[in-house]
Amino acid sequence: MHADFDPEALTIFEPFRVKTVEPLPLPSREERELAIRRAAFNLFALPAAAVTFDFLTDSGTSAMSARQWSAMMTGDESYAGAKSFFRFEEAVRGLTGIEHAIPTHQGRSAEALLAKALVKPGHVVPGNTHFDTTRANIEAAGASALDLPCDENEDSSSPFPFKGNVDLVKLEKVLKDGKPPFFVMTVTNNSVGGQPVSMANVAAAKALLERHGVPLVIDAARFAENCFFIQQREPGLEKTSVKDIAAKLFSYADAVVMSAKKDALVNTGGFIAVRDGGLAETIRHLMVLTEGFPTYGGLAGRDMEALAVGLEEVLDESYLRYRVRSVEYFGSGIEACGFRVVKPFGGHAVYIDAGKSLPHIPALQYPGQSLCVELYRRMGLRAVEVGSVMLGRRDHETGHETPAPKELVRLALPRRVYTQSHIDYLLEKMSSLTPMLSEFKGYRITRQSRYLRHFTAKFEPL
Ligand code: F0G
Repeated sequence: MHADFDPEALTIFEPFRVKTVEPLPLPSREERELAIRRAAFNLFALPAAAVTFDFLTDSGTSAMSARQWSAMMTGDESYAGAKSFFRFEEAVRGLTGIEHAIPTHQGRSAEALLAKALVKPGHVVPGNTHFDTTRANIEAAGASALDLPCDENEDSSSPFPFKGNVDLVKLEKVLKDGKPPFFVMTVTNNSVGGQPVSMANVAAAKALLERHGVPLVIDAARFAENCFFIQQREPGLEKTSVKDIAAKLFSYADAVVMSAKKDALVNTGGFIAVRDGGLAETIRHLMVLTEGFPTYGGLAGRDMEALAVGLEEVLDESYLRYRVRSVEYFGSGIEACGFRVVKPFGGHAVYIDAGKSLPHIPALQYPGQSLCVELYRRMGLRAVEVGSVMLGRRDHETGHETPAPKELVRLALPRRVYTQSHIDYLLEKMSSLTPMLSEFKGYRITRQSRYLRHFTAKFEPL
């Protein structure tokens, strides 16, 4: 909140008022039971109309502001050189200080363009932890994606403030072994729990990379949340505005890829920004095949307008304080109910450690899936399993499965969508759930696809 408001107050009030409302679906317990059975116990197969609290993802699920909606009405839908493109370009340049800003329809298309332009078969591309789609795009180019998260993130209860950091010792070793086409720093580090990366870590990584002539790419999906954490936690930067912290962060980047569906507060969109003019030209040549002409990149003019406004709004510190405190409030409440959770709390989601919360269910009977089903059944809440269903490795010849390192359940908070009373209701329901955790059953998979099985798998309770 601004100085006049009490930042220590227990009640987190949303720093906005509501202008448009959307009724929540309120299916009965019987209707939910029917829906989850029809979905073969896979939450991705549920129709959204059967979900009351949809915490499946924070991606593309933001509520836009009155300013964003009114900017959409000014969208210029000209095929080439639309006014909306120049507004988008100015917003991205203003934020990142990077010359060439190219719109894409979402984050993964920016990653695909970067990979097509720079990655060759046999390359090894290191990162603090690649998001799934970044990894997939690197692997699709015949290279391998290497995760180098810092050791502190292995212990889910360690209070280390920057668990998203890259391990610099391991990075140096990789750089000595061969020359990668680039390194990816994902801020915040989604795959390890939405954990932030420190400015010191980015600066040190940049110095190392520069010595080896390797470009630094920032995956900026949640850059504003990361920069707010830096302001709150990194000595020396507590008095710097989040906007200035963001400018400093991007000053280290040779390129930025962004899924605007997160911290640009829009329902679709993304971009790639590069300093190198030659690379920008290569990308513009490649993108016409799949994304569209370089001044719209698969977006409507109105989408670029909303994106440009969102990039500005997300840096409002009263919004960011509310955002980060809401996640922390939800996480502390879940912990107080008796669940084991990943700490410190990240920027966009609470992660329940289902392996530790439901120790009677073995990893290969998917404790995270079991918890997701019960959360839906009992309170209409949709979460996502991030454990052995999603990340376990299966040998397709023998059917042998290796479990994931952790059995987590992610509850991602859409931006500006749910209020504190929604969270209080969920916490009340969760506290009635903890005494019966030991009764929850494991699951087995009855059908699955070869790739990304979690989206379409069918389950049966054991
Ligand atoms: N990078 C990060 C860090 C992400 O979290 C995502 C998407 C992407 C890139 C890809 O962006 O979806 O616009 O193509 N994350 C979503 C999630 C899907 O639920 O965490 P996209």
